[in-house]
Amino acid sequence: RRDFLTSTSAAILTAGALSHTSIRQAFAQVPASQARLAMPPRLDTRQTGRLALTATPGKTGFAGGPEGATAGFNQAYLGPTIVMQNGDLDAELRNALDEPVSAHWHGLLVPGEHDGGPHLPIAPGAVWRPAMTIAQDPATIWYHSHIHERTAKQVYFGLAGVIHLTDGRDDDRGLPSDYGLDDLTLVLQDRRFDQAGRMVYNPSMMDVMHGFAGNRMLVNGQAGATAVVPQGMVRLRLLNGANARICTLFFDDARPMHLVATDGGFVAEPIALKMLRLSPGERAEVLVDFAEGGAPILLSDPGQAYGVMQFAVDPRLTARITSIPDQLDGVVDDLPLADAGTRQVSLDMGMGGMGGMGMGGMGMGGRGMGSMGMGRGGFGINGRPYDMRRIDFRVALGSVEKWRIRSTMVAHPFHVHGIRFRVLSENGGPPRPENTGWKDTVLVAGETEIIARFDQPAREDTPFMFHCHILEHEDAGMMGQFTVT
Ligand code: C2O
Ligand code: CU
Ligand code: CU
Repeated sequence: RRDFLTSTSAAILTAGALSHTSIRQAFAQVPASQARLAMPPRLDTRQTGRLALTATPGKTGFAGGPEGATAGFNQAYLGPTIVMQNGDLDAELRNALDEPVSAHWHGLLVPGEHDGGPHLPIAPGAVWRPAMTIAQDPATIWYHSHIHERTAKQVYFGLAGVIHLTDGRDDDRGLPSDYGLDDLTLVLQDRRFDQAGRMVYNPSMMDVMHGFAGNRMLVNGQAGATAVVPQGMVRLRLLNGANARICTLFFDDARPMHLVATDGGFVAEPIALKMLRLSPGERAEVLVDFAEGGAPILLSDPGQAYGVMQFAVDPRLTARITSIPDQLDGVVDDLPLADAGTRQVSLDMGMGGMGGMGMGGMGMGGRGMGSMGMGRGGFGINGRPYDMRRIDFRVALGSVEKWRIRSTMVAHPFHVHGIRFRVLSENGGPPRPENTGWKDTVLVAGETEIIARFDQPAREDTPFMFHCHILEHEDAGMMGQFTVT
């Protein structure tokens, strides 16, 4: 056990510059009982039009390590994969924790009053009942708690899950859709484990500057997992659910990933990629061909490669889909560039004015978590740190805007609530392939221009957020808010 822990934490994870053999050995050492990748349970709302989630405390041991306090929706860590379709959905969110939480639907296009952001906290013991109407293209979305200054810790300890918004037409599209068989949901998160194998969250000031990084990669809460797949085409729905880590994913045998969907839905035609970059908050759906078998390892970060997960082909499983569709019905609607006004957004990370951190006692379940304690003045947007009482700007309902976003010091994954956008340019050039579809989060490293139509309303009391999705940056003030009226 101990050995397993050490060797895995060294090799499956982030320790850097490991040989391919040592990564492969690390996967081989995972005890069989822990090796097989499990999917989050599925919660299908399509028949009832109802969704019931309870934010609940739990205890979780990872990779054979000791149990520690975690939190999840309806379970001890993370939440179910919610299956939804367009139409009415009556949700009921309960909070069984002893601190406020929220349920933000990241990627769902709903009005501000249903968005679940920082203005919609659910007090301990309370219930929130948004009656939503969903009308958008099928997509892989996610949900997570979003309480200002607590988002990083709450998501870290498990308050997040995936949503499949589906129209039931994936067979017509020629896409795999058997959950857990040829359609895998993969929540990628790095987490930090101490010597004893317990998951910890103890950000230092440097961790806040760079975002909190783990020393071990988890997929759906498992380390060193192997997904058993049929000998055909497999769809991977990838969510970067890390607090701060930017992943650049590739297979050790260089097999391609065929990108079929980005944050906001399908692309127009599959895009073959050798590497896929995914920053916190982003989703991508890819098809991977296992017809030739093999046991490839999904790695991240060429040059500093670490293992994310392994695949094993079981020829006894039926492969329903064996080819890549030529095209998909992703709408690539050209927004009217000419009528769009431009808004400047700068993601600031000045060094001045950072106060003491004061971040002791971050265990889940305690009330005394306090704030991140960053001095105001370091992290902000357009020169100002987030203030819940200040509306940063107002957007006219139905208008189209171009945003020019600039990053300082490091790359920041930039996310906007209430819209899906298209990326117009990155540092003056065309967007990278990953960013050519509908997006709601994009990694800004320099200057990125996006365009969107703002067609969801958001009032003054429940405005939409825009922020860096490095959760430590967000909590430290790299966030703003706007109304749409
Ligand atoms: Cu993923 Cu403002 O959130
Ligand atoms: Cu969001
Ligand atoms: Cu940031």
